[in-house]
Amino acid sequence: MQLPSNSRPTWVDVSLPALVRNFELIRRHVGPGVTVCAVVKADAYGHGAAECARALQQAGATWFGVTSTDEGVRLREAAIEGGILLMTGFWRGEQEAVLRHRLTPAVWQQESLELLEGVAGKLSAQAKVHVKVDTGMSRLGVEHDKVAEFCKLLPKFKQVRIEGVFTHLASSEILDSETNAEQLARFDAALSEFRRQGINPPIVHAANSSAIAGLPQSHHNFVRPGISLYGYYLPFVSSTGRPSELRGLAVEPVLSWKTRITGLRQVASGAGVGYGSTYTARRPMTIAVLPVGYADGLNRQLSSMGRVLVRGEVAPIIGRVSMDVTLIDVSAIRSVGIGDEVVIIGRQGEHRLDAWEHATLAHTIPYETLCAISARVPRRYCSSD
Ligand SMILES: Cc1ncc(COP(=O)(O)O)c(C=O)c1O
Repeated sequence: MQLPSNSRPTWVDVSLPALVRNFELIRRHVGPGVTVCAVVKADAYGHGAAECARALQQAGATWFGVTSTDEGVRLREAAIEGGILLMTGFWRGEQEAVLRHRLTPAVWQQESLELLEGVAGKLSAQAKVHVKVDTGMSRLGVEHDKVAEFCKLLPKFKQVRIEGVFTHLASSEILDSETNAEQLARFDAALSEFRRQGINPPIVHAANSSAIAGLPQSHHNFVRPGISLYGYYLPFVSSTGRPSELRGLAVEPVLSWKTRITGLRQVASGAGVGYGSTYTARRPMTIAVLPVGYADGLNRQLSSMGRVLVRGEVAPIIGRVSMDVTLIDVSAIRSVGIGDEVVIIGRQGEHRLDAWEHATLAHTIPYETLCAISARVPRRYCSSD
């Protein structure tokens, strides 16, 4: 007998209407002259890139941001027609795939231009690129003080068209940060240099989610939201660390993570629970077994710290989260039974647990919590609320 590929009762529900509402909110916020490039890298932050991009394309999205050539190719295979920006460029050997799939790489090195020029000649095609400028992250991009030199190289690459110029902000959630002001000023200077050398890229961009909400001066004519599409923001703070009034746009979480109780057992006071017996029952308890563990992306830092929802009530995780199994205390929950749905992230009854709770316990950010939900967990797509 063949089992369905997702028969294990641990899954993610992705609300495509919520995703589209977030996209539309962002689009309204930036206004009609600004293109919203939906960042769907890292499998749409764990939500599933092909399905999310298709829903967004239907809602009118014309640009998508990914990190790598293979992510871009997978979007084309999923019938995504719009622009696909390879935000971290491409690796040597990938240039033919870049052109054949009409991907738009970020470039900042002469070598990338040479590789594209070579393959564009062979395919009688034109390579469109966005030049990335490093305005202060010390990571990727032409260093802001070497832009003039870089621009001088460009005219010799006849098959390469500079369609865009962009940068990335290191701390856009720190609204009054001097780094933002400095990065944006360096970016303006870089743009002036491009223009001075006769290069007028039609697309200019700098803003991620926080900058879209808090730094309108960074919008130019194209923005790159990632985390806000999926319903989260980093907290906005001032440079002294004080929380800001700004909460971001009213986006909603798109992903819920669920499982079911697959076992129940009564344990006596004094029983050790889970690996290392790091938790000891202090009274007779009812423990439920959940088929989810750190191999699914449930962070081990949630051991004896995290919470889930069962029958509309909060149940604590007890003992160590193991690779495939996690235990919860359901002693206080009436009528609990095998097969009950358990919410790990999401809403049940009056309660909601979001990725921030996991992230805080694991000393990380929702980006990582969401991306960490592993491929072993099937994603189910809901097209209505
Ligand atoms: C270049 C670039 N642009 C945009 C984004 C989206 O950022 P966010 O998820 O904070 O909106 C990222 C994400 O890391 C990025 O690397």
